[in-house]
Amino acid sequence: MNNRILITGALGQLGKFFIDSLINQGNYVLATDIKNSNDLNCDFEIFDVHDLKKGDELIKKYKINQVYNFAAILSAKGEINPAKTWDLNNAGFFNIVDICLKNKINKIFWPSSIAVFGKNSNLNFASIDEPMCPETIYGASKLACEKAMYYYNFKNIIDIRSLRFPGIVSNSKPGGGTTDYVVDMLFSAAKKKDFTCFLKNDTVLPMMHINDAVDASIMLMSIDKKNISINSPYNISSFETSPSKWRDTINSFGYELKIDYEVDFRQDIADSWPKKVDDSLLRKDIDWIPKFNEKETALDILKSI
Ligand SMILES: NC(=O)c1ccc[n+]([C@@H]2O[C@H](COP(=O)([O-])OP(=O)(O)OC[C@H]3O[C@@H](n4cnc5c(N)ncnc54)[C@H](O)[C@@H]3O)[C@@H](O)[C@H]2O)c1
Repeated sequence: MNNRILITGALGQLGKFFIDSLINQGNYVLATDIKNSNDLNCDFEIFDVHDLKKGDELIKKYKINQVYNFAAILSAKGEINPAKTWDLNNAGFFNIVDICLKNKINKIFWPSSIAVFGKNSNLNFASIDEPMCPETIYGASKLACEKAMYYYNFKNIIDIRSLRFPGIVSNSKPGGGTTDYVVDMLFSAAKKKDFTCFLKNDTVLPMMHINDAVDASIMLMSIDKKNISINSPYNISSFETSPSKWRDTINSFGYELKIDYEVDFRQDIADSWPKKVDDSLLRKDIDWIPKFNEKETALDILKSI
């Protein structure tokens, strides 16, 4: 593909999988974050998305032509400091747009989230354009940026592409979201430890394997703009699960994971999110289907822990 891609927030749960896949497909990648790292197989620079000057310098120095903008504070962590979350998630979005416009970069990938939905949405099967009244500051910040994304695309100012990620299952530790238990439970099973779950046993949420999330994102970024039929993010998901169902799936591979429940504030967040989303438009527009169902996801990640 031969693009030169800058990734913000690249040291989070998702970043390294995007780095590996983008490099494998022939792209140059510059990873950036506010934390330091020396175990990446690409160039790395410290970059705080508030720092417009540094962003501009990096784009020029590394001749970047696409940005994957991941820097964010997620749902559960966001509730601890709403003002900081609103600031980072929105300033990060607008600063990257500004830096890109200044440098004539015309393509950004920016992930949204199922957190944009709320109890006024149809939570049993959320369509792409439900009424949305998110109950977290994280969801509110993502929805605000979705509206800005619509504006920029509608006005043809810059090409921003986006998926509303559900819970992402990977072998990297999540950064403070409401679906973190899916990954934490896999680590507990692999280490033969009991698990204390912060959501009720029957709380159903949509999920997907990290490889499916990466593949769909890169496919969305690669296709011709004329195939993209909406100006806002697409829904995306692979399967739906709950803590007790996920435990049973894990134990079907011979593990003996035991769970007890200490439900906390994250239950209210989960109760305001969809159990299932309608991602048929994405599947049609980019000709994508997930490769991993629930069992395949659990087994594949367990093998890699
Ligand atoms: N992981 C999921 O399940 C999930 C689900 C839905 C949407 N998303 C979205 O995907 C993106 C990546 O998620 P993730 O799980 O990798 O997040 P994460 O919380 O694991 O990582 C976020 C990264 O951003 C960095 N960061 C924080 N402040 C920064 C700043 N000022 N400037 C630059 N970087 C900064 C952090 O150091 C961290 O490495 C986010 O936009 C998130 O909202 C993730």
